[in-house]
Amino acid sequence: MTKLKILQIGPLTPEFNARLAEAYDVHPLWIEADVAAFLANHGSAFNAVVTTARFGCNASVIDALPNLQVVCSFGVGYDAIDVASTRKRAIPVSNTPDVLNECVADLAFGLILDVTRRLSEADRFVRAGNWERGNFPLGMQVHGKRLGIVGLGRIGKAVARRAAGFNMQIGYHNRKPDSSVDHFYAPSAVELARWANILVLTCVGGPQTQNLISTQELEALGPTGLLVNVSRGTVVDEKALVAALQNKSIGGAGLDVYLGEPHVPAELKAMPNVVLLPHIASATIETRRAMEQMVLDNLAAFFDKGVVLNAVE
Ligand code: 8YV
Repeated sequence: MTKLKILQIGPLTPEFNARLAEAYDVHPLWIEADVAAFLANHGSAFNAVVTTARFGCNASVIDALPNLQVVCSFGVGYDAIDVASTRKRAIPVSNTPDVLNECVADLAFGLILDVTRRLSEADRFVRAGNWERGNFPLGMQVHGKRLGIVGLGRIGKAVARRAAGFNMQIGYHNRKPDSSVDHFYAPSAVELARWANILVLTCVGGPQTQNLISTQELEALGPTGLLVNVSRGTVVDEKALVAALQNKSIGGAGLDVYLGEPHVPAELKAMPNVVLLPHIASATIETRRAMEQMVLDNLAAFFDKGVVLNAVE
């Protein structure tokens, strides 16, 4: 039997690539020097796209695949996939929701603890031998503080559960209040920022949240306020964030995501009160295995039964 042909947009783990290649005829797009020429010559051969939240799939790729039937993505966020193009052709798109909620929330909490108690900075202090010359400056208490969650979805709620265990006060901003929770609701990001000591971003990316956090929100957070972002770099106006940190209108930040990943602005790297992570919120062995399995399950379900298990919309 001829295997179905899959176009893989970006690399995943060797184990996943091997499992994918067992069942399908997979072509890695990232090895092509001239993507447009390759797609023009071979685009009609492909039945499916496999991609990731990071690599996405843009309109020009989708348009170059006339026989495309399904897009299966590794990751929950699908802001990098041009769903307007897939929708037009009724091509289903799947993602990997839920399995990463707890790990992303753990990492958000790791950043909350790091920026408040200055863990990374303290580690650098010890390694540099500075402890022998004096004590490390004091951090900020976590318990009792107001944690503002921008985007109280499945990941935001997992962050809220952790915050409750830390005796924090919890507030959130969504477009509408969520009747299933009794946390403080702020009708705008700026009002939540004004209320919060720590603002954590767990909302979706894409045009609806682009630059949701800008100068106004950062000023509202205030000189002792801290920003934690495990959502998407696009949610924060990165220039405004650099300026707010430079002029001390906020106290610090913990970031897992950036505008031009994997590029991180040099200004941020130079600041001791900013914790910088390389987009690792879902990056545990257990969670990544579960995400890989979901990609394979969605492909199999689509080619067996004509439906994906985790349609994005
Ligand atoms: C990605 C993510 O899966 O799920 C998401 O939306 O951002 C991550 O978990 C990972 O960066 C691979 O693209």
